[in-house]
Amino acid sequence: MKTPSSYHQVLITEYGDVDVLRWTESSPLPTPGPGEVRVRVTSASASFTDIMVRKGLYSGVDAELPYPPGYDMVGVVDALGDGVSGLEIGQRVADLTVWGAYTEYMLRPAEGLVPVPSGLASEDAVVLVLSYMTAYQMLFRSADVKPEQEVLIHGASGAVGTALAQLGRVAGLKMYGTASTAKQDYVRQLGVIPIDYKTEDFTARIMAETDGAGVDVVFDAVGVDNFRRSYRVLAPGGVLVTYGLYKASLTEESRWGVIWPFMKMLWQMKLWDWFPEDDKRVTFYSIQSQRKAEPGWFREDLAALFELAQEGNLDPQIWKRLPLREAAEAHRLIEAGEVRGKIVLEVSPDPASP
Ligand SMILES: NC(=O)c1ccc[n+]([C@@H]2O[C@H](COP(=O)([O-])OP(=O)(O)OC[C@H]3O[C@@H](n4cnc5c(N)ncnc54)[C@H](OP(=O)(O)O)[C@@H]3O)[C@@H](O)[C@H]2O)c1
Repeated sequence: MKTPSSYHQVLITEYGDVDVLRWTESSPLPTPGPGEVRVRVTSASASFTDIMVRKGLYSGVDAELPYPPGYDMVGVVDALGDGVSGLEIGQRVADLTVWGAYTEYMLRPAEGLVPVPSGLASEDAVVLVLSYMTAYQMLFRSADVKPEQEVLIHGASGAVGTALAQLGRVAGLKMYGTASTAKQDYVRQLGVIPIDYKTEDFTARIMAETDGAGVDVVFDAVGVDNFRRSYRVLAPGGVLVTYGLYKASLTEESRWGVIWPFMKMLWQMKLWDWFPEDDKRVTFYSIQSQRKAEPGWFREDLAALFELAQEGNLDPQIWKRLPLREAAEAHRLIEAGEVRGKIVLEVSPDPASP
């Protein structure tokens, strides 16, 4: 594909509602500095976290407005900066960008890029970067699950929830999952026993289903009240993996920037043993903190996910594909809680697609 003289981006012009997102054209293309690569983005994903970023409620962004949101991307290496080795022009790569992926071209440090195997479509690969990586590391790094264990997945229809369900099936787990009424059948199709959190008390249902024993692991990003209830349904020796505060994430409280720095501090200081009276464990997972702490795990785990998908063991749940230009519509749908799985933004042609 011929390199153009200008490129498009969707920029956050100021923090706020969807109408702050602007489709813009910029030129010239950015030039990679030493150790950098210019990537022509083929797919980006739209995620709940992008909405926090757009509203200025996410503390993990180090950019000044205006800038594009976009937590992850897959693309093609388009130009190499000085000193870059081990990557070739035309090679497909993936990265967790945190912000910046709603763009046709971007610069990335070469050292963070993970090669995408041929045969795996960009749109499938990009779903694996944020949502499946979060699920994979929580299952296998935080909780260290074993076959036949019983787990509870909150928000089982969401991007991370569906990833937990698919990976949980591969791991041989028995899974329960909370979802709203309209999504019960969808969650059942994923191999999860659905619990309608709108009409039933999940704690009573889990204790009834497990004959009072409780589950081995709960994955919970709903909020602090939910964490306490989740803790109660853990079997002795069980683990509660918390990874977000969905219900509070878009509220005034989080606007003060209180929640995420607090969670980060707890994570960094490993102060998660809130309930010392028994042998249950509570932990907090953050994909950014985990990647900083163990960059090797990130590469290793993403390569493992690519392999699982290539072998047909995963079916990345893409609910909708939208052109990059319609990123605002993707945000509207995610904020309205309509999505099952993930929305992928189509940015430019994928050489791996027919
Ligand atoms: N720590 C990390 O590294 C990390 C990484 C990725 C995401 N996250 C966080 O994880 C959370 C989920 O992200 P996501 O991308 O999966 O979002 P998502 O795709 O929007 O899915 C979340 C789903 O949760 C469900 N839900 C809402 N209230 C619920 C409740 N009270 N009980 C059970 N389910 C409920 C909603 O579906 P229904 O209500 O219709 O069932 C919603 O679709 C967010 O807070 C995000 O910031 C954290």
